[in-house]
Amino acid sequence: MKVLVTGAAGQVGTDLLPLLLSRGHEVTCFDLAKAPAGLPSGVTWVQGDVTVEEEVFDAVRTSRAESIFHLAAILSATGERIPFRAWRVNLEGTRYLLEAARAFGTRQMIFTSTIAAFGPGLDNPVGNDVSMRPTTMYGVTKVAGELLGEYYATKFGLDFRGVRFPGLISAVEPGGGTSDYVNYMYFDGVRKGAYEAFVTAQTRIPLMYMPDALRALVDLSEAPAKRLKHRMYNIAAMSPRADEIAAAVAKRLPGVRITFKSDPRRQAIVDSWPQALDDSVARAEWGWAHEWDLERMTDDLLAKVKAMSGAPAAAPAAPAAAASGSLVVRAKAAGKPASGGKPASGAKAPAAKPAAPRKQDRPRA
Ligand SMILES: NC(=O)c1ccc[n+]([C@@H]2O[C@H](COP(=O)([O-])OP(=O)(O)OC[C@H]3O[C@@H](n4cnc5c(N)ncnc54)[C@H](O)[C@@H]3O)[C@@H](O)[C@H]2O)c1
Repeated sequence: MKVLVTGAAGQVGTDLLPLLLSRGHEVTCFDLAKAPAGLPSGVTWVQGDVTVEEEVFDAVRTSRAESIFHLAAILSATGERIPFRAWRVNLEGTRYLLEAARAFGTRQMIFTSTIAAFGPGLDNPVGNDVSMRPTTMYGVTKVAGELLGEYYATKFGLDFRGVRFPGLISAVEPGGGTSDYVNYMYFDGVRKGAYEAFVTAQTRIPLMYMPDALRALVDLSEAPAKRLKHRMYNIAAMSPRADEIAAAVAKRLPGVRITFKSDPRRQAIVDSWPQALDDSVARAEWGWAHEWDLERMTDDLLAKVKAMSGAPAAAPAAPAAAASGSLVVRAKAAGKPASGGKPASGAKAPAAKPAAPRKQDRPRA
């Protein structure tokens, strides 16, 4: 199938690409960032901006996408810093894509929503079909994106489906979300032997290891429409406290120092999120089931981070799911392309190059 992935250079897109290729899809990537080094041959990379309507239309038209995996977004912490850019990227960008999908007959769009879409004050675990009243711009744009997609499904017959991701953990640097403290316990724990988390030790949010998240996207895309009674699905895997994650890391990295100093701005964001999600609707309608818990994820992720850092791997990796992260370099973040509304230029990527370590030191929002 021909697939278009927006936000392909991000934390999710970097690992989704090899999974889609392994399933035999023909993939076009669309991102503000330039094509990463080591892009597999045969993948088309379009550098473009989802807030520029012509660039979005051009990408959908030239890719002849049957399905769009829409990942491009400004995440929670960055979204609070630049809220109206977040509005334009997350909402206007989604609208342009939906319109382009309608114009060029794209059959399906897979949308990536978030636990941040719910808002505070809900009983845990939070159900699939509760009233959503987020207090961050990121959450506002994601609820509106969900509703806009459902509108296109009802009005124009687009097969719009999506998941509400927990905080995602992987060996790729995160992109300005507020669950980043979890990723950096692993990254800085290995590289520096210490990390100061920006939340309290008691902070608890839903989390998921990337291989589960990627499988969810692809399985939902392939689920028979007749089984689906919803369009948006909670998915869940684990909800450890921050100090429980630190303990899991410390058990495997003797001497590591993980401390907690709550940053009021980011603490307020995580405190507005659910602590646990009820994903029984996804389990019933398309057979969703997570495979990775905290212990297994910690074994696998520490082995990967150590391998990337050149440190000896102490713990043997648990058997990895099909795509626990095989594309090793994240594209360099780029500013807005200078095309100023001109159609995006698509270019076939060069053949794969040897892997380089993933960049993990980009400043967080
Ligand atoms: N990572 C998480 O923990 C998490 C949790 C819940 C939901 N999600 C959702 O999953 C999706 C992917 O998240 P991610 O972690 O990969 O994000 P990320 O920040 O790592 O990547 C986002 C990508 O979008 C691109 N992008 C941003 N603005 C753009 C624009 N105007 N035009 C084109 N591309 C643009 C960026 O260059 C980046 O490569 C997002 O929609 C996000 O809301 C992620």
